[in-house]
Amino acid sequence: MKNVFVISSSLRNDSNSEILARMAFKGSNDAGNKTEFITLKGMDLRFCKGCLACQKTGNCVIKDDMAGVINKVKDADVLIFASPIYYYGITGQLKTFLDRLNPLYIQEPKFEDVYLITTSAEEDEEVYEKAVECLQGFIDCFPDSRFAGILSAGGVNIDKIENDPDRKGLLKKAYELGKTV
Ligand SMILES: Cc1cc2nc3c(=O)[nH]c(=O)nc-3n(C[C@H](O)[C@H](O)[C@H](O)COP(=O)(O)O)c2cc1C
Repeated sequence: MKNVFVISSSLRNDSNSEILARMAFKGSNDAGNKTEFITLKGMDLRFCKGCLACQKTGNCVIKDDMAGVINKVKDADVLIFASPIYYYGITGQLKTFLDRLNPLYIQEPKFEDVYLITTSAEEDEEVYEKAVECLQGFIDCFPDSRFAGILSAGGVNIDKIENDPDRKGLLKKAYELGKTV
């Protein structure tokens, strides 16, 4: 049994990346893992100010919803991030979320495997490369962690993935990702 934390970052109602993230959550739960899900939608999540106070105290000076989330990241064995591709990268809000995990830099977070789920209008593989690079930059700061895999859903824009017969298989893939973490 692993502690699995799924973090969805799209702010769009009926977000396709969130639908896939929820499928991964379901797969992980069904596999018997202790699984948690959050969406950044509606969260009070402010930008990192770069003061680096966290590197002395282990705590962030900003008092927002991140305070209730950071320990969940710290205690997770597996992180699954979901992001639409924005300008060939992750969303700004997911980058902010990663920045705000900087207090963990001087702690000993458990997470080893980090997965990414992306959705994008374009289908080419290159569309998510910079998103992986960005996440890899975060992962590289935690020696015990590694990039464990990606589910990239190309050709997915704002129409509901469930209504597209050519893309429906992605739901099962997301479920399987969660089930096999
Ligand atoms: C600001 C912005 C930038 C985007 N940039 C790209 C892009 O570079 N490449 C791409 O294929 N799609 C791009 N898209 C489309 C989204 O990736 C696409 O709509 C995604 O599937 C939405 O995911 P969601 O349903 O989880 O919100 C962009 C969308 C927005 C709003």
